[in-house]
Amino acid sequence: MCPGPIAPLRAVSSLRQTGRMDRNLALVTGAARGIGLATTRLMLDRGWTVAMIDRDGPALDAAADGLRDARAFLCDVSDPDQVAAMIDDVRTAFGRIDAVVNNAGVALFGPIEETGFDTWREVMATNLDGPFLVTQAALPALKESRGSVVNIASISGLRASTLRVAYGTSKAAVIQLTKQQAAEFGEFGIRANCICPGPVRTKLAMAVHTQEIVDAYHDAIPLNRYGSEKEIASCIAFLCSDEASYVTGQVLAADGGFEATGVGLPALRG
Ligand SMILES: NC(=O)c1ccc[n+]([C@@H]2O[C@H](COP(=O)([O-])OP(=O)(O)OC[C@H]3O[C@@H](n4cnc5c(N)ncnc54)[C@H](O)[C@@H]3O)[C@@H](O)[C@H]2O)c1
Repeated sequence: MCPGPIAPLRAVSSLRQTGRMDRNLALVTGAARGIGLATTRLMLDRGWTVAMIDRDGPALDAAADGLRDARAFLCDVSDPDQVAAMIDDVRTAFGRIDAVVNNAGVALFGPIEETGFDTWREVMATNLDGPFLVTQAALPALKESRGSVVNIASISGLRASTLRVAYGTSKAAVIQLTKQQAAEFGEFGIRANCICPGPVRTKLAMAVHTQEIVDAYHDAIPLNRYGSEKEIASCIAFLCSDEASYVTGQVLAADGGFEATGVGLPALRG
């Protein structure tokens, strides 16, 4: 069972009067920190209400504290029962879901020979099962709102590299999942798009990026730097908005140009 909401509901007076909020509701997974928290803040700035989903209760509670028009829901997105209960709770609390941002992710890196099945499953469970389960459970609400889905993949899903057999494969699958969703959901007026971030200095990335890796990324990225959480959040907010009303099934690399460069040898730079 989903442990349910853990932060007090604030400033949703229209819900109390009508049973359905007037403001659009974005459901953001992995919202306790990093890109998910930056997305939450940006969507709030733009007038959305946000259901913040995470499995890390204390971090989620701290992140939601003081955020007007946001509410926290403790849920492991890889668990079908928790996801079903969480979506029920969100619909009961807000009466609508207009955007689903499947952002929760884990990064476990290692060579193929040393990647045990438990590690493989742990990565797939959050990174791939999570977006499948959350979107499927939210579908009835998205049909009502003619809403949208934004899945967060990675440049690791676009370009292969060492140590990412589970992570990179999960993210490539998320790209295909997005296209499957776009193909099926179009008839309901629901859009589905995918963002592939380049490196961003979050807890997830810095656990696996040594200084040497940071320097190498700078060399390989035309803009010569990491992205920020807010730069990724801006792309997410755009794809959730009416500004993107004719955009579906697309994969947007927010990566400083990393994906565009085939032969990115630093020695070839003029
Ligand atoms: N940071 C980067 O460089 C980078 C690059 C490409 C893609 N991404 C992707 O962006 C997304 C966000 O990454 P981030 O860097 O902000 O990571 P992060 O580790 O800072 O935040 C991830 C959040 O997801 C939550 N989470 C993890 N598994 C969960 C689960 N099963 N159920 C519910 N919540 C769960 C964590 O508790 C955490 O709060 C991930 O999907 C990641 O793969 C990140």
